[in-house]
Amino acid sequence: MLGYEEFKKDIYNLTGLDLSLYKEKQMKRRLESRIARIGKTSYKDYFYLIKSDKKAFDDFMTYLTINVSEFFRNYEQWEKLEKIILPKLIKNSSELKVWSAACSTGEEPYSLVMLLTRFFPLSKIKVLAADLDDEAINKAKIGLYREKSLENIPIDLKTKYFEKIGTSFKISEKIKSQVEFKKMNLLADTYPKGYDLIVCRNVMIYFTDEAKDVMYQKFNNSLKEGGVLFVGSTEQIISPSKYKFSTEVTFFYTKFE
Ligand SMILES: C[S@@+](CC[C@H](N)C(=O)[O-])C[C@H]1O[C@@H](n2cnc3c(N)ncnc32)[C@H](O)[C@@H]1O
Repeated sequence: MLGYEEFKKDIYNLTGLDLSLYKEKQMKRRLESRIARIGKTSYKDYFYLIKSDKKAFDDFMTYLTINVSEFFRNYEQWEKLEKIILPKLIKNSSELKVWSAACSTGEEPYSLVMLLTRFFPLSKIKVLAADLDDEAINKAKIGLYREKSLENIPIDLKTKYFEKIGTSFKISEKIKSQVEFKKMNLLADTYPKGYDLIVCRNVMIYFTDEAKDVMYQKFNNSLKEGGVLFVGSTEQIISPSKYKFSTEVTFFYTKFE
């Protein structure tokens, strides 16, 4: 389908989101199937729709951003976080600064708070949770989940921090209140600084190598010395030392000076 170059410019002017930093083949495939499904035949027509109709705009952002998530996603990695990484981080700090960088609908930051209750009292735990998608952040703030997304939660945490409402599960206000949600575009915004742990999982797979190169550098700058970047299970960094990261445990990268 023609018109993608123009569409990228239009979307950038409308939203500030630079689609050229997302892998092109994958992005075009998704968008073109979306355009066909809603009965449009060109990028131009689709852009006019997005521009003139708030609901179509929100749908586009949600579709584009792929919000799939779950609590303790890839549980084996969370076990490593609990058993190896957190005990090391805690040695240097009595409080940890933690950032869930593409938090989607909240499962990841809430998993972090629940896990951290094994090490700290709730009042000492604060997690920054950020995402590009307003709708995802709104859902996260509501904190209502289907049973399927709770499958990996250790039973003690599930019993303690969820209330069953009909067929859904509501996360406890105690956990919720330790998370600060914020809208942030990882491809354009300034990153916050001074973190012990940054969790950025299952979003970098959508970005070009050039975009990832900049992000790894920015994540490194956001970490304290000895701080750790935790990535998704298909997102291993090829040459971590290039970004001043070392790795002893797969998918966890420690900042060195
Ligand atoms: C597949 S979800 C991953 C959620 C969670 N990290 C996990 O692993 O379960 C990808 C998330 O990345 C967000 N995202 C996509 N592009 C982004 C960007 N440029 N800046 C910040 N978040 C972005 C999406 O909105 C979506 O919520």
